[in-house]
Amino acid sequence: MLNFFDKDPLVETSELSNIDRMDAVSAAHISDRGVESYEEHLGISIKDFIGKSVLDIGSGFGRFVREAREQGVKVTALEPNLIIKEKLRDYHPKEDSVAGLAQNLPFKDNSFDAITSIFAVPVYLETSAGEYDRTFREIVRTLKPGGTAYLWPIFEKLMTSKQFNLIREALADQAEIELRITRKDDERFKCIVVTKKKEIEGN
Ligand SMILES: C[S@@+](CC[C@H](N)C(=O)[O-])C[C@H]1O[C@@H](n2cnc3c(N)ncnc32)[C@H](O)[C@@H]1O
Repeated sequence: MLNFFDKDPLVETSELSNIDRMDAVSAAHISDRGVESYEEHLGISIKDFIGKSVLDIGSGFGRFVREAREQGVKVTALEPNLIIKEKLRDYHPKEDSVAGLAQNLPFKDNSFDAITSIFAVPVYLETSAGEYDRTFREIVRTLKPGGTAYLWPIFEKLMTSKQFNLIREALADQAEIELRITRKDDERFKCIVVTKKKEIEGN
């Protein structure tokens, strides 16, 4: 963990209080973007993910998850509201839908070829609680070597923040974190692309 987060009193935030806060803040904002919208925002082609294992963080009602599965992508949905919103379960694909938070991903190391997240991470993370640091570490941990995460959008405030640069530096030996313009119509919002470095043979 980075030292400056240790001094932060909010670092004690428990998972339960995270869920309470998240419920209050985001329940009204659950959205339901499909494959086409994900391709546009993340600058990806779903065809490149066919046969691969993908984690979608903050999948909302799960339209992307359902559509991508129909096209042959093995998508796991992660959505904290599955814990508290029984209604959401009616919409969500039953298979491989997991209730949980990005800050504490309930998956083994090296599980996914790719991770996607739209209007969830990092948007809903609490800056003062060290959640960026935990989330980026979790993303890198659960990606397979050579795997890539696409997170949209990053706002100006985070992009230029001390936290973000420290996270990039702290993870530099494990992953490359770059910012890409994916929406040519609105260059203010960039996509964070995290590529986990391949393991060097013999190490
Ligand atoms: C605006 S919705 C986006 C849903 C979907 N990705 C889409 O674009 O249609 C944001 C989602 O992120 C989820 N979320 C918020 N904080 C999260 C966290 N810390 N970890 C994982 N998901 C989170 C919310 O429950 C909500 O469903």
